[in-house]
Amino acid sequence: MNVVITGGSRGIGKATVIRFIKEGHQVCTCSRNEEALKFLWEELGKPENLFIKACDVSERQSAKEFVKFCAKLMGKFDVLINNASVLGLRESIEHYPEDVWEEVIRVNINGVFYITKYAIPFMKDGGIIINLSSGAGKRPAPYWGAYAVSKFGIEGFSLLLAEELKSRNIKVYAFNPGATRTQMRALAYPQEDPSTLKPPEKVADFLIKLVNLRPNLVSIDFY
Ligand SMILES: NC(=O)c1ccc[n+]([C@@H]2O[C@H](COP(=O)([O-])OP(=O)(O)OC[C@H]3O[C@@H](n4cnc5c(N)ncnc54)[C@H](OP(=O)(O)O)[C@@H]3O)[C@@H](O)[C@H]2O)c1
Repeated sequence: MNVVITGGSRGIGKATVIRFIKEGHQVCTCSRNEEALKFLWEELGKPENLFIKACDVSERQSAKEFVKFCAKLMGKFDVLINNASVLGLRESIEHYPEDVWEEVIRVNINGVFYITKYAIPFMKDGGIIINLSSGAGKRPAPYWGAYAVSKFGIEGFSLLLAEELKSRNIKVYAFNPGATRTQMRALAYPQEDPSTLKPPEKVADFLIKLVNLRPNLVSIDFY
């Protein structure tokens, strides 16, 4: 399969890139930090089936160039995983800084829109799009501010996209990975003992199963 994964430099994205690469699929991934991507490529023994490119998904041109780069190197996509996201701040709406709000919405909403919009013409009929959501996008999560609102947006975006792409038999999912041992989780819960959390590799295993099983529902949780 040809797989595009945003935010592959660490956490769930990185574990998922590794999982698909090890199964012999072609993977194209990005993050803003090019060094971290090069490190991943070298760590994996410079595999020929991994393509990396620095990209900020919240920048239109950068997102467009990344998608074109993936299509040029792999051809049409079987799977798109919109994983890249930022947390912002844990703060009340009253005190939430405007610039942080705008940054979170830019990355978590605009970024998913840009990558998806530019990728749709390159998606194979019968393909899959998975958008990383969160429990904070399904029920009230006070003090999660822009992040929670962005993930509610991802749930809605996935529902409408699933309808729009039905005629091409492209499945769309809003996928909540649940509490996972990553940098983002540590930022959100600094007091928590990370060893009590599932590792990102477990999420990657679940994502492979999701791609193979293609269930008939849009919003999926993994705990
Ligand atoms: N971990 C959890 O417990 C948990 C729970 C629920 C949902 N999620 C969701 O799961 C997904 C992965 O989370 P994670 O915990 O693995 O996060 P993470 O460790 O912070 O990794 C986020 C990845 O996204 C990339 N990224 C961030 N902003 C970007 C941008 N503008 N353009 C391109 N890449 C960007 C980061 O690389 P750079 O910084 O180098 O760009 C990094 O590779 C997110 O959508 C998150 O909301 C996670």
